Amino acid sequence: MKYIIAPSILSADFGNLQRDIEMINQSEADWFHVDVMDGVFVPNISFGFPVMAAVKKHATKPLDVHLMIVDPDKFIPEFTKAGADRITVHYEACTHLHRTIQLIKSSGCKAGVALNPHTPVTLLQDVIEDLDLVLIMSVNPGFGGQQFIHNTYKKIQDLKRLIQGVNDELIIEVDGGVGLSNLASLVAAGANAFVAGNAIFADENPAEIISKMKSLITTGISI
Ligand code: DX5
Ligand code: ZN
Repeated sequence: MKYIIAPSILSADFGNLQRDIEMINQSEADWFHVDVMDGVFVPNISFGFPVMAAVKKHATKPLDVHLMIVDPDKFIPEFTKAGADRITVHYEACTHLHRTIQLIKSSGCKAGVALNPHTPVTLLQDVIEDLDLVLIMSVNPGFGGQQFIHNTYKKIQDLKRLIQGVNDELIIEVDGGVGLSNLASLVAAGANAFVAGNAIFADENPAEIISKMKSLITTGISI
């Protein structure tokens, strides 16, 4: 099983963005997690296409784009053009989710759906075969540095059961409040991709935290 570490550039130093991108390039991280917020779906605004294109220019790893926006269909071609490799939309923001998933795939990107903490995984049952990734929000979306919600473990287990024999290749990604203290438990529950912002960028040596996260996963430290 391949495990993914995806540092969230939302917690990077935007005044030194190229430096932080180079750090991730040279680290053991696998993807760049790119959080796009519109101030409508979530109570915060992050950044848009010009910043994303600038990240793409320097990044040597795939861009995992998490859209916390209403009406994402309108912008999917433009996010693809700006360099997205994976696009994840929110279940709660899509009236015609099946159509949105097909749109992402036809644009050439891998397709993901994110679930807010209150949204049960069973609501994805009828589209689960079409998905490359499900992102389980382990905080309420909008901000970095929040406290991890414990019910996430149960949701990962529920999702694991839902994909069994139907879409075993699906990536189960966890986003929010993830760090060295809960990583092993999240792996044990069945997750295989981990977004981390604050845990990485608030540290004096972010590359070392990424390396520790990676070895904690691969050595399978007992919990
Ligand atoms: C929250 C974002 C997260 C966030 C994670 O809305 O989707 O990706 O940046 O940050 P931490 O790891 O600090 O909770
Ligand atoms: Zn995110």
